[in-house]
Amino acid sequence: MKQIFIAGNWKSNKTTSEAIEWLREFKIKTSNFKLKTTPQVVLCASFTLLYPLKKEISRLGIPIKLGAQDVSPYGAGAYTGAVNAVQIKEIADWVIIGHSERRKFFSETDELLQQEVEQAKSAGLGIIYCVPDDTTIVPGTVDVVAYEPVWAIGTGKSDTPENANSVIQTIKTVSKAGRVIYGGSVTRENVASFIAQPMIDGVLPGGASLSPETFYDLLVALAV
Ligand code: PGA
Repeated sequence: MKQIFIAGNWKSNKTTSEAIEWLREFKIKTSNFKLKTTPQVVLCASFTLLYPLKKEISRLGIPIKLGAQDVSPYGAGAYTGAVNAVQIKEIADWVIIGHSERRKFFSETDELLQQEVEQAKSAGLGIIYCVPDDTTIVPGTVDVVAYEPVWAIGTGKSDTPENANSVIQTIKTVSKAGRVIYGGSVTRENVASFIAQPMIDGVLPGGASLSPETFYDLLVALAV
């Protein structure tokens, strides 16, 4: 049986107190529930939230890893405003690179993303690399690729499981990526149909990760 990979992407949402509250509610919900399989769960949050989340995750004993949503393409030094990979690795295990919102709103190019991947890799971060289709180049060293069609992100219109499976099959063939997940309007209603596809190793929910109820419901939907 494949190990399912779920990465919640909070994007630019939540204050520290909201993030802590999310964890406490999630802990209460999950404490009475046994999953048949143990998915690998990563929560990708704003830089300011990572340290308080880390402390609370360890206090509550929740099996969730943390991820950042961006990393500097440079190492330590005179790069005002940037957070470098070594700094992230002190707190988190994963980083999302190349999300379509970074490409669109922050003009991140394939070349810049390649530099980010190199920085993240050398610091030992796990990399979730997002691509909008099966023609976008995937750097060889990433750990997980996320296929996220731009038109499906935050729109409530997901890709079909069958098409996502076929795109992901191509991505796996072309890029040699080990694990490829699907993102774009994943909900508790549709998550099981994506996971049921043979090529799809997990999901990257945005909106559905924002409340502990809906995120928990995703996990429940995978367990039935
Ligand atoms: P969505 O976001 O689930 O809200 O569509 C997914 C993403 O952007 O990673």
